[in-house]
Amino acid sequence: MVNRLAVDIAGLKLKNPTMLAAGILGMSGASMLEVIRNGAGAVVTKSLGLKPRKGYANPAIVQVPCGIINAMGLPNPSINSFGEEILEIKQLKLDVPLIVSVYGFSAEDFAKVAQKAEKIGADAVELNVSCPHVEGTGCEIGQNPKLVAEVVKKVKATVKKPVILKLTPNVDDIVAIAEAGAKAGADAITAINTVRAMKIDVETTKPILANKFGGLSGPPIKPIAVRCVYEIYERVKTPIIGCGGVATWEDAVEFLLAGASAVQIGSAIAWKDLGVFKSVTKGIDCYLRRKGFRSVKDIVGLSHRS
Ligand code: DHB
Repeated sequence: MVNRLAVDIAGLKLKNPTMLAAGILGMSGASMLEVIRNGAGAVVTKSLGLKPRKGYANPAIVQVPCGIINAMGLPNPSINSFGEEILEIKQLKLDVPLIVSVYGFSAEDFAKVAQKAEKIGADAVELNVSCPHVEGTGCEIGQNPKLVAEVVKKVKATVKKPVILKLTPNVDDIVAIAEAGAKAGADAITAINTVRAMKIDVETTKPILANKFGGLSGPPIKPIAVRCVYEIYERVKTPIIGCGGVATWEDAVEFLLAGASAVQIGSAIAWKDLGVFKSVTKGIDCYLRRKGFRSVKDIVGLSHRS
């Protein structure tokens, strides 16, 4: 029987088009396994770098109406201490792609981390050139098409596995960045990472987050993310993974119609639960059947066709 929910993104075979977004529950083998057991089609780890990082002081996360702003500061144990977490999953042979999110402070850094990720069993790497608040990395690279191209080229010259580029919405023209990444050889594009934001406490009169600024995620950013996917799809042939505020099957279908081949789910896990992967997948399946589509691929980019 053909699985109408199966998708292939840059050679990665997913049983359904839902993925765990970077930064949420991707810190250990056990937590990623829990996500896989709850039906995710693929998982992405927390961003890993060359050296361990403690991250920022608390408060590092604050709730706002319908969303979350976080500034953790890329805390991670480094790629060198992550082999066992990956092995824990790979040895179960679950056929669920495991994507390692990587960050660095230069193209060389990105390539070194990506190479190590590939060596310890990553099925693909996702380049975090889009964290909105850590000096010397993230947006500081991802807002500049030349730097993005440099990072992608270096990583592509170093690893064989697919390279996914995660873009920031904090730019004038996200299509220009996507085009630079695609031309440099990115195999897929994730759109979008968090929107730079802040919250001020009216009693203390001060910003709440220790870092002042953080990244907004959740339902408030979904319309921005859908617009970015739509714009990129019009101009770039590289497969797109939609990310930003997906909590229901309707959200996921909206991203697919805009041009995404799959969607990542992050914040919704925090205020719903891990059942979100199954409810979104089931909802997409019912929608396809109700509308008479044979495959999820039939609705990718459908909103562009007249
Ligand atoms: C962090 C990293 C991100 O890429 C992001 O979008 C938000 C927060 C962090 O680790 O602080």
